[in-house]
Amino acid sequence: MKRFLQLSLTALVSIGLLAGCGQEDKKVLVMGTSADYPPFESIDEATGEIVGFDVDLARHITEQLGYEFEVKDMEFNGLIPALEGGRVDFVLAGMTPRPDRLERADFSDIYHEANNLIVSRADSEINTVENLTGKTLGVQLGSIQEEEAESVLAPELEGLQVEKRNRIPELIQELLAGRIDAAIIEDTVAKGYLEKNEELASFLLPQTEEAGSAIAFPKGSELLNPFNEELNKMKENGKLEELIIKWFDE
Ligand code: ARG
Repeated sequence: MKRFLQLSLTALVSIGLLAGCGQEDKKVLVMGTSADYPPFESIDEATGEIVGFDVDLARHITEQLGYEFEVKDMEFNGLIPALEGGRVDFVLAGMTPRPDRLERADFSDIYHEANNLIVSRADSEINTVENLTGKTLGVQLGSIQEEEAESVLAPELEGLQVEKRNRIPELIQELLAGRIDAAIIEDTVAKGYLEKNEELASFLLPQTEEAGSAIAFPKGSELLNPFNEELNKMKENGKLEELIIKWFDE
């Protein structure tokens, strides 16, 4: 019995010591993203690191709140499941809060507004939504652009075929190679590809629903309020504007 007590005591002391040390090391929060979305998030070819507006935003907020953070790259379609499965603490991926997602995750305030563009080859003569009749239209799997194509455009435009891909660069490749006729891509992201590829052109897709980006958390996460508070501070003190200028050049 005495020996048992002694052992338990040793165990308790060790736990105490460990906990004490823990205070020194900052807790690490894991951010999930889909690094196919410059300038929000992409892989820096020179360093292999994930960089972008969302990464800087997360870095600033977690720093202010006294956390370390780490980025986990995955397919866009897997982000909400990763939140639900507790594999990530939050998601920053240019993600738009929509009713179906709000059932599965909590969202911060919007940190960036967006519009969708129809991107096609300049010689394709696709200049209006009606011109998409009978065409193939690419979208990212699991995105609001997929929802737009499937539930708004396809029912209206005869013969429209929706092509889904996991990553945005794949959509651009398919467009350039002529395997799809057009793609729906958010303006801030499309801009970079349009500048790099003169053979691409675009026009604005009129829309009625929210297309802006917010930070997503597991349902009931205690991080939501502190993140929102920091986000609002950033809106007021110019830090958000600074990141917008750095990454969106606006
Ligand atoms: N805003 C759109 C959505 O929420 C697209 C986001 C895509 N993000 C990405 N990292 N690929 O569905």
